[in-house]
Amino acid sequence: MNTTIVILAAGQGKRMHSVLPKVLQPLAGRPLLQHVVEYSRQLGAADICVVYGYGGDEVQAGFANQELRWSLQAEQLGTGHAVMQAMPETPDENRVLILFGDVPLLRPATLENLLNHCNSGEVAVLTVDMDNPFGYGRIIRQDGAVQRNVEERDASAAEKAITEINTGVLCAPANLLKDWLGRLSSDNAQGEYYLTDVLGMAVSDGAVVHAVKADDQVEIMGINDKQQLAIAERALQSRLVHRLMEQGVGFADPARVDIRGELTCGKDVFIDVNAVFEGQVSLGDRTQIESNNVIRDSVIGAGSVIHSNCHIERASMGNDCEIGPFARLRPGAELADKVKIGNFVEVKKSTIADGSKVSHLSYIGDATVGAGVNIGAGTITCNYDGVNKHQTVIGNKVFIGSGTQLIAPVEIGEGATIGAGSTISKPAPANALTLERSKQTTISSWKPPKKKK
Ligand code: UD1
Ligand code: MG
Repeated sequence: MNTTIVILAAGQGKRMHSVLPKVLQPLAGRPLLQHVVEYSRQLGAADICVVYGYGGDEVQAGFANQELRWSLQAEQLGTGHAVMQAMPETPDENRVLILFGDVPLLRPATLENLLNHCNSGEVAVLTVDMDNPFGYGRIIRQDGAVQRNVEERDASAAEKAITEINTGVLCAPANLLKDWLGRLSSDNAQGEYYLTDVLGMAVSDGAVVHAVKADDQVEIMGINDKQQLAIAERALQSRLVHRLMEQGVGFADPARVDIRGELTCGKDVFIDVNAVFEGQVSLGDRTQIESNNVIRDSVIGAGSVIHSNCHIERASMGNDCEIGPFARLRPGAELADKVKIGNFVEVKKSTIADGSKVSHLSYIGDATVGAGVNIGAGTITCNYDGVNKHQTVIGNKVFIGSGTQLIAPVEIGEGATIGAGSTISKPAPANALTLERSKQTTISSWKPPKKKK
């Protein structure tokens, strides 16, 4: 049977106290809804329909480049009403898997198990045993067989004592579901069309209703407020870190790392505390990430060491580089092998070839730096004239003395040496010493100022 996935995402999420619609709240750097879409895709469903309502334009804009079907639920009249909006374009011969846009941690394996219990004439509902079932719909069984669901607000005291709850995730054949949804009423404590009422209808129509239990309570967690969002964040981080540890990545403390995107690691990588990885980051074999680093959309080559307190964004480096402490690699910083970038150095939109060193207090922007170059402390590429950016080209084996300003556009020939403290605005020839300094003078008549009485 083909599967249509319907993701309910029309609610506002009042308890978030945010202008951002609930399903756009970030978890591990991505909107809640993105997590749901991703595990939906992992199930291989071709037809994924998002039911949207509150903050509609913003929600759709956030998913503009993704293949999704959208159904508007203009008024939020309940979960049953929400699913109804997606039914007209859903083929009768499909089965429909209903997911919630605010349940981000479900694992594909759990859902695959649920789908295996939903063939023609069968309904499968995902349940879990909860220590504290307050607020959830309860699963009512008779002689072990599922009879119906009752919502917290409609439940009797005896029903409230039941600990098996409805996660909200449900799968049913489309033809049957359409019929049941058409028969829903809003005659209940909340005046809403409850999706959950289809369970009772299925039983009275003689369909088989399977309650498939999820293994853990965290996986099915629905996010309603910032506290739950924070709990889910830690749970997801722990899941991501443990997956990496299984592949052999070492962490000083698995609880003190954040992965907001996709982190791929080679062998024998070690990550110290408070490292934040965002977007697509790849760490080669034997790389070491010391404490307090932010690394975003970057490639770190094998054997490289990122010392403490660096900020690295859209940069790449080859093997055996050494960065920091306190270095900043900005977008377009492309370092080859064995490059050293020391403390308080900023590199932007520049390539630096093998074995070159920028060890202290420098700004290298819009530059092409050759191999084996040594750039002295406090060297600045003056790349901006206030209107345009200009290039600095430095040949192989150049030595730039400390405190030099390179006024771009400017070119330093291969093997040149620039004397410390120079302001270089004209090409410096290869294999020669070039320097520019004002004459040093001493004024012997000078007296230090005295404090006024
Ligand atoms: C629902 C279930 C409850 C279950 C719980 C699990 C029903 C009636 N109840 O209750 O049995 O234990 O989830 O978390 O289904 N939504 C819409 N349109 C609407 C209403 C809701 O899109 O008109 C969306 C919300 O954005 C949300 C989801 O559906 O993502 C669930 O809605 P919510 O109001 O949170 O349902 P619960 O009361 O939590
Ligand atoms: Mg809810």
